[in-house]
Amino acid sequence: MDLFDKLEGRPGPLGQFTADGYGYYTFPKLEGPIGPEMTFNGKDMIVWSINDYLSIGNHPEIRKVDAEAAEKYGFSSPMGARLMTGNSDEHEALERELSDFMHKPQSLLLNYGYQGIMSVIHALVDRNDFLIYDELSHACIVDGKQLAMAEKSVFKHNDIESLEKQLKRAASRMKPNSSILVVTEGVFGMTGDLGKLKEIIALKEKYPFRLLVDDAHGFGTLGHDGSGAGTQLGCHEGIDIYFGTFAKAVALIGAFVATEPRVIEFLKANTRSQIFAKSLPMPLVVSARARLKLIRENPQWREKLWDNTHKLRKGLIDLGYNVLPSESPVTPVLTAGSTELCTTIMREMREEHGVFVSGVAYPVVPKGIVLIRLIPMAGHTDEHIQKTLKAFEAIKPIVFQSSEEKMTA
Ligand SMILES: Cc1ncc(COP(=O)(O)O)c(C=O)c1O
Repeated sequence: MDLFDKLEGRPGPLGQFTADGYGYYTFPKLEGPIGPEMTFNGKDMIVWSINDYLSIGNHPEIRKVDAEAAEKYGFSSPMGARLMTGNSDEHEALERELSDFMHKPQSLLLNYGYQGIMSVIHALVDRNDFLIYDELSHACIVDGKQLAMAEKSVFKHNDIESLEKQLKRAASRMKPNSSILVVTEGVFGMTGDLGKLKEIIALKEKYPFRLLVDDAHGFGTLGHDGSGAGTQLGCHEGIDIYFGTFAKAVALIGAFVATEPRVIEFLKANTRSQIFAKSLPMPLVVSARARLKLIRENPQWREKLWDNTHKLRKGLIDLGYNVLPSESPVTPVLTAGSTELCTTIMREMREEHGVFVSGVAYPVVPKGIVLIRLIPMAGHTDEHIQKTLKAFEAIKPIVFQSSEEKMTA
């Protein structure tokens, strides 16, 4: 069969939604400067769907740095992979600053978080090793696992007993040259709960393993200084390899791992997605440095983010919504219902109330569940929150009638 014919008849689990809702539910275009107020289909919206947690994306100082760096370097420089011709003082300085920010001895810059962590996982373990990961891990960890040569096993989400069972099994089968890598997340991005890092780290007393934490949503938002979930939970030292991305709180492209120098030396020479890919353009690196500095100098942004998070969450709970026990700014609103309910909520909120929210339903989450995920930002005002809560109040009959029908069906 012709490959293209086969693909046309098999759009994949998301294909139908992507095709039918193109430009609205999928691939929507939010226009105007990045922030809590943007334009969608020509209408003004209060936006709860972007991860610019600290509202740094459109900060005037950053816009200036971006423009000046673009003017000075252009977007081509440096050419080539870092290992070959793509290194610069700016790249190295950013790595030093990331290590400092993260209280880890050394860092390695990654072009993109997704490819970066996939490749890091692939590089870290070999066929003699064991790779154990949380079942709700982000797709990049799952794909990293696919690449890895190690024997893989999964533990139930945040279930320490389940993890221990896997560790016990791996430990009993280890050869002299076998090692164990456990991978989990600092913040689970859909539901907002934190990885049980302290409890996982405590298992090091009993089992020989190293811990890699993907803290995409925690970097910059959690901990007194923004150094993430480990700091927030008081166990940062127990994270052996910390992964953070600029795609959320830094509102940029790029990512990093922070760990011991001997591991960084190994990764520099073995992380294939970095060795065989072009280095980050200079303006992005210069901008990342400026953003990191601003984040450091403005802890009040994090306070405002949390203040907004608490107000939004309390308001939703008061209205009777289930916001799950999220421990991060990620604010999920969970209800029973069909994919159609999910699209109805998104449409009602956007069309009737000027509130842009994104939701997921089957096949992204199990059948019968609708999850609307709100991302508060430091730049949201009380007025934005109140207007959003009013909208959630107005759609209650739609949401709750449908979920009651579902519950009694
Ligand atoms: C948990 C998690 N890990 C990794 C990534 C990938 O990062 P990036 O966007 O830098 O590729 C994301 C999404 O951005 C994420 O949510």
